Amino acid sequence: MSKVEIKIEIAQKADLVNGKIDSIIKNWDGIPTRLADAIRYVMEAGGKRIRAAIVLWCCELVGGKVNDDALIAAAAIEMVHTYSLIHDDLPAMDNDDFRRGRASCHKAFDEATAILAGDALLTMAFEVIAKNIEAKKAVEMTKTLAQAAGPAGMIAGQMDDILSENSKPNAQKLELIHINKTAKMLQASAILGAIAGGADEKQKKALAEFGLNLGLAFQVADDILDVVSDTQTLGKTAGKDAKQGKVTYPALFGLKESRKRAEAMVSQAIENLSLFGEKAEILKSLAIEIIDRTK
Ligand code: IPE
Ligand code: IPE
Ligand code: MG
Ligand code: MG
Ligand code: MG
Repeated sequence: MSKVEIKIEIAQKADLVNGKIDSIIKNWDGIPTRLADAIRYVMEAGGKRIRAAIVLWCCELVGGKVNDDALIAAAAIEMVHTYSLIHDDLPAMDNDDFRRGRASCHKAFDEATAILAGDALLTMAFEVIAKNIEAKKAVEMTKTLAQAAGPAGMIAGQMDDILSENSKPNAQKLELIHINKTAKMLQASAILGAIAGGADEKQKKALAEFGLNLGLAFQVADDILDVVSDTQTLGKTAGKDAKQGKVTYPALFGLKESRKRAEAMVSQAIENLSLFGEKAEILKSLAIEIIDRTK
């Protein structure tokens, strides 16, 4: 699949899940206007929806087509991901005024509203799964998402990311931070898709391994883009990691070696798909796009 084609395919999946997210928010009664405005502001800003695309393609891969469970799960993980970005941008964390091409939530509103919008999106994601998906799948999805986003997952990574600022990077610690803060959420996306599509245990395991390697490569690419790209293209402030003394792949290994390592992670992710043969072509193209992306 060509570079243009995979970009079009991702955009189509993004449209699909954006429709779902819009309807979820529109039909949610009782949210105070300012909070609802903040939630819409961040959700409508147009993230790449990579996690959603992973959910939908993994569902398709094992189940033949995208079903409503996959769409719900895709919306849910994008809500949790967006909450993590709102909080990541807060002055107490990465202090970034720019996100998805516009003012960060705390800049467009205020810190209290941004904290609450994040809290809201995190809880809404679980309510959406519990309300719309039959019990057995909903429990498995809840566990998957909670473990990835929770205190031994994404939040652990965020804590260590902050604590490691201006410290001397160590390869093992760096990998652990990246696995926790980012890779586990991409892994959860793959597992959620597998659950939605009714995967067997062998398929689930392969997709979980794929998601983790892909997620690690995704964060290495994010580190590289922070160095080589610009704020306009990224839609978030470039060059921040070095300024804030973040522990990143380029800081530890340099750009060339980081790129090499990201490529090796993508090769590993592609190998994890061997069980599925030709049917996994689109996920393989996605894996390559993840390190070739410009934003
Ligand atoms: C940014 O994620 C934060 C990381 C985990 C690297 P994305 O690059 O997926 O951000 P959006 O959703 O497209 O804005
Ligand atoms: C963020 O990593 C990971 C999250 C859990 C949000 P970064 O701090 O590198 O993400 P960006 O570069 O601000 O998007
Ligand atoms: Mg951060
Ligand atoms: Mg950040
Ligand atoms: Mg970054």
